[in-house]
Amino acid sequence: MQRVLVTGANRGLGLEFVHQLLMRGARVVAACRQPGRALKLTELAAAHPGHLHVVPLDLDKERSIAGLAHEAGMLTDRLDALINNAGVLVPGERYGELTAKAFAETFATNAIGPLLLTQALTPLLEHGQAPRVVNLSSDLGSHADTVVFNTPSYAISKAALNMVTRLAAAELRARGITVISLNPGWVRTEMGGARAPLAANESVAAMLAVIDGLKPGDSGRFLDYTGADVAW
Ligand SMILES: NC(=O)c1ccc[n+]([C@@H]2O[C@H](COP(=O)([O-])OP(=O)(O)OC[C@H]3O[C@@H](n4cnc5c(N)ncnc54)[C@H](OP(=O)(O)O)[C@@H]3O)[C@@H](O)[C@H]2O)c1
Repeated sequence: MQRVLVTGANRGLGLEFVHQLLMRGARVVAACRQPGRALKLTELAAAHPGHLHVVPLDLDKERSIAGLAHEAGMLTDRLDALINNAGVLVPGERYGELTAKAFAETFATNAIGPLLLTQALTPLLEHGQAPRVVNLSSDLGSHADTVVFNTPSYAISKAALNMVTRLAAAELRARGITVISLNPGWVRTEMGGARAPLAANESVAAMLAVIDGLKPGDSGRFLDYTGADVAW
């Protein structure tokens, strides 16, 4: 896995993916909404000359996705992995006070964006070595494990992302591209909060081990960072 594109790369798990991939010698395209403000990525780019390209991407905008695909094609002739990491969670949603806006925006970022980006990058993935698409999902998107009314726009959008995984796996299997949903665990980031048990570096190291070990037969699975299956 030497050529990798990571979304939401400026902070949290995305930044840690970039860091660990660079430490392994990979060439990384790091996508984020505001490259000019992504100071940690700028520092990493300086520390790993020629290995890190920081490019703009707003997953909610089709033109931005098309622009990123064009730019990625100028930077590399193949992608071995696309890590659809960017995601959003609206805090404090309560039954009785739900708004359509929160659902629409969350759905755009967490479910539609990753599918459109995968579609746009498929020509580069087709040229990759054992190419794989990793959709960062959540146990909150599991139908089977849901017993409390919690973060509905996030949970519904991650359940939809899991369907993106199943559909893309079906479409891309014949092209040799493996697609999975991957739950990082509960991790200390801005989204996960300070009480989460896992550090970002632990979660990402474990996820990279899972991603490294993927075989074509794994396409369409929903795994967690330990490699165990998550119930749909
Ligand atoms: N942390 C956890 O415990 C946990 C648990 C389960 C699943 N996950 C999943 O893991 C992934 C990473 O989570 P995290 O904890 O690292 O979250 P985070 O710290 O909140 O970071 C989210 C990232 O997504 C980016 N993003 C949000 N909306 C975007 C958009 N429209 N276009 C492009 N980028 C956008 C953010 O960019 P800006 O800086 O510009 O906002 C940021 O880089 C997410 O998909 C999340 O759902 C996390």
